[in-house]
Amino acid sequence: MSAPKSARPDLVRPLIWEDDTLYMLDQRVIPAREEWLPMNDYRQVVEGIKDMAVRGAPAIGIAAAYGLALAAKNGDDFAQACADLAASRPTAVNLFWAIHRIQHLADHSFATVLAEAKKIEAEDLEMNYSIGRFGSLLIKNGWNVLTVCNTGSLATAGHGTALGVIRTAHSDGKGIHVWSCETRPRQQGLRLTAYELMKEGIPFHSITDGMAASLMRAGKVDCVIAGADRIARNGDTANKIGTYSLAVLAHHHGLPFYIAAPVSTFDLELADGSGIPIEERHSSEITQIEGVAVAPEGCPVFNPGFDVTPGELITGIITEQGVFEGPYRFGESDFSPVHS
Ligand code: MRU
Repeated sequence: MSAPKSARPDLVRPLIWEDDTLYMLDQRVIPAREEWLPMNDYRQVVEGIKDMAVRGAPAIGIAAAYGLALAAKNGDDFAQACADLAASRPTAVNLFWAIHRIQHLADHSFATVLAEAKKIEAEDLEMNYSIGRFGSLLIKNGWNVLTVCNTGSLATAGHGTALGVIRTAHSDGKGIHVWSCETRPRQQGLRLTAYELMKEGIPFHSITDGMAASLMRAGKVDCVIAGADRIARNGDTANKIGTYSLAVLAHHHGLPFYIAAPVSTFDLELADGSGIPIEERHSSEITQIEGVAVAPEGCPVFNPGFDVTPGELITGIITEQGVFEGPYRFGESDFSPVHS
């Protein structure tokens, strides 16, 4: 599949809108190949989100916004397009936030919807730079930073959230080293975060998820930074499965545990994390690797994609508006993420 003309090898972007087409970088085949999927129908975007050609909370919100631009261009039933896109993945609230924002536009003409999608993407990039600046202030020289999943350019409009903090700290000359958790079952850490860190020359080692505890005990981790898919008013945070374990481990070892996320990741309708829908994905993600069976045929598995870290285990939540410390009461205090 040919790359869009504006794709740049030195700049990772998950989505490019060009010539009235949405190009989606297929994250299922990275790092083996960099393949762009041209999309001219919102239904292709729905499939791309469902099958995780695009993934990461902010990126799926942006993809949905461009999907609605395609629906507007093609004269599709707009309400149906919104419903189909909203049904693509359940946990990351950014998806619903973006759809909601477009639903509430004065009109759903192609020009208006496309302009809003571009705005959502541009704002996300700016928010990530800001998250990076606030987060970098928390990182001390020479720290070993542990992260999980992929929260980088691939998961956002660019730069990233937790990985954006790491990027900024690196470019600020902090001399950091990253421990990047593999993130079973889909290996977003091993495949995608490693791909981004290598492109930028940020020192790191990939580790399997079970190694974090012994590294902490050995004094080889100074802090943990993770992203988020949905944050409730009390700071309870849904993120990639395994994040909660890292928070418990960090607490046990007296290490700071940070979450980095933009306003689009806050769900102020939820008092706590108990109401966050947790996606369950297909068993084959666990029983197969690259299509090869690694479990006995018929092996029963449980495959939730996310877990919820209680707010009290989170040292600070790094947003584009600053760093917030618990006890969290989002929406009641000075911090009021905007949900239109
Ligand atoms: O299933 P994924 O790969 O979409 O999960 C992604 C994560 O959990 C990320 O940490 C989160 O979306 C934040 S991305 C900036």
